Amino acid sequence: MLLLGIETSCDDTATALVRDGRDVLAGVSTNQDEFHAKYGGIVPEIASRQHVALLSAAVEDALGRAGRTFTDLDGIAVTRGPGLIGSLVVGVAAAKALAFATGKPLYAVNHLHGHIFAAFLDRPEPPPYPFLALLVSGGHSQVVAVESATRMIVLGRTRDDAAGEAYDKTARLLGFGYPGGPHLDRLAQSGNPRAFAFPRHRPDRGSLDLSFSGLKTSVRYFLESDAGRGADRADVAASFQAAVVDVLMQRVRAAYESGAYRAVVLSGGVAANAGLQRALRAWSDERGVPAFVPPPKYCTDNAAMIAAAAYHQGDAARVDPLALSADPNLRM
Ligand code: KG4
Ligand code: ZN
Repeated sequence: MLLLGIETSCDDTATALVRDGRDVLAGVSTNQDEFHAKYGGIVPEIASRQHVALLSAAVEDALGRAGRTFTDLDGIAVTRGPGLIGSLVVGVAAAKALAFATGKPLYAVNHLHGHIFAAFLDRPEPPPYPFLALLVSGGHSQVVAVESATRMIVLGRTRDDAAGEAYDKTARLLGFGYPGGPHLDRLAQSGNPRAFAFPRHRPDRGSLDLSFSGLKTSVRYFLESDAGRGADRADVAASFQAAVVDVLMQRVRAAYESGAYRAVVLSGGVAANAGLQRALRAWSDERGVPAFVPPPKYCTDNAAMIAAAAYHQGDAARVDPLALSADPNLRM
């Protein structure tokens, strides 16, 4: 089954051709970072205009790279939400028009589900159900029990900033442009993670909720202090990262011990983080838990994960091309 995936929920104009929810025949992502960098974050109006300008070419490009045409497709999968409404409607409108014009089935995918199915791409065996997923991106941080392709239960979520947001804001304090997560990750690799003891959020008893705003504020006050002004930035980055990774891994361990899971999946942009990957692998090796971590290109927003989700969710994701509408607040 060959699906065309379309993802425009935020600032990446992405398309992909995926066979059987696993084999990526072509993946195209037109990164808009240079258009947003000077504003220090994503400007929704610019993002939607860029999607309009780029999407048709991105669809043609994915088909061309895979050496396929519209007639070869078995369906079209598109992100319905959550995300920026102006960005989502561009992808949804394009997918509806393509499905209507070609008569192919249309599948509407929740972006957050998409991130989880990134772990199914380009690998021989999919993660076995039920598995635990840590979904950490620029907009979301959640611990999710994935019981089947369509049954997912959020066990814990952030009360304030998402992990990626905390990375971006802290990276900005250290002088990096948007998105700062990858820069901070690189800088952290040459620093001492024990140099500074930044706070780790502790949830209420029995809760798996997360919080990063206290950590971010603590780094800010530190950098404004005398000690902070003279501190090695690599040590600050490494100490911040150690706090984020500690908090995330504490929730993963607690969630894992309270259920009966057969694997752990890491997904979302922050899953590309070297420190987090290292900590997850160390724990999963020690505990004997199979860990599934997508390669970096599938951790951040992409269209292959959307096509994979549509394949695995099948009829449950199938929609009427004339009736589909984008939903910026779609829940897990
Ligand atoms: O999943 P994603 O591409 O978009 C959303 O759905 O939000 O995630 C983007 C986020 C940004 O906040 C970015 O800074 C962060 O993922 N990110 C990272 C790394 N790579 C991307 N954060 C920490 N370390 C990284 N290596
Ligand atoms: Zn995302």
